Amino acid sequence: MTEIIDGKTTAKTIRAEIREEVAAMKAAGFRAPHLVAVIVGHDGGSEAYVASKARACGECGIDSTVIRFDETVTKEELLAEVARLNADSSVDGFIVQLPLPAHIDADEIIEAIDPRKDVDGFHPVNVGKMQLGLPCFLSATPAGIVELLSRYGIKTRGKNCVVLGRSNIVGRPMASLLMRKEEPGNATVTVCHSATPDIADHTRRADILISAIGIPGFVKADMVKDGAVVIDVGTTRVPDPLAPNGSRLRGDVDFENVAPKCSYITPVPGGVGPMTIVSLLQNTLKAAKANQGHRL
Ligand code: GUN
Repeated sequence: MTEIIDGKTTAKTIRAEIREEVAAMKAAGFRAPHLVAVIVGHDGGSEAYVASKARACGECGIDSTVIRFDETVTKEELLAEVARLNADSSVDGFIVQLPLPAHIDADEIIEAIDPRKDVDGFHPVNVGKMQLGLPCFLSATPAGIVELLSRYGIKTRGKNCVVLGRSNIVGRPMASLLMRKEEPGNATVTVCHSATPDIADHTRRADILISAIGIPGFVKADMVKDGAVVIDVGTTRVPDPLAPNGSRLRGDVDFENVAPKCSYITPVPGGVGPMTIVSLLQNTLKAAKANQGHRL
């Protein structure tokens, strides 16, 4: 029997937990956590993502502010805003929504963020701490996946985990978390990418397969072992004449044919996506506690 991992309901449960913690924090005399999102230009995906972050914050009692810049903003103007947010003690954490316009080097912007306010977990200090197993802000999508595995009781210790994709946001941190010396973790991890000659040879040996490559339907049934756990991070918008707005989100996995072979699988949408946002809220709560003198 295949169990569908319900990220939407799990995320709702976690938002309720966060709401309770925020309420307790306020009752103890602390102010609400405050998350700021900086968005540049009018990328449709970024707009949708920032809107759902703001909605989720509202549901949990977390204050949220969106700061918008035109796509003609200069690097200097953006760096000045980052410096202002770093110095603003009413801001617990902030993110600069990616992608940025081509004339701005995202790495330079990320490196300017105070690592203590980097609730995306993208700053090299947080990435380095994660590699070393030190307390830090974890990158939201891999942290959400680890939370799903944990809440569904899926054991990773000693398992063969195959990660498809080596992005800084998902593939690399995912591999790192799966091999750390705690649970979930302790897995044997293989990372496949665009230069891997025979990807199916690796995926067929995966007890847990995590795909984050952004190629709709890439993972076919003959690439998956019977009883595998399949986590689909892909969210590509594809044309769909039957959908009300003419398009729909599609994952990396050929869900219809792969699902019957799996012990567990995440759907798209409603799998990993909602968990990414709750991870960001968890990081914001952690930042607020640290910022306001709680012990982490
Ligand atoms: N663009 C897509 N996902 C993310 C994310 O998690 N954080 C930021 N800052 N930008 C993104």
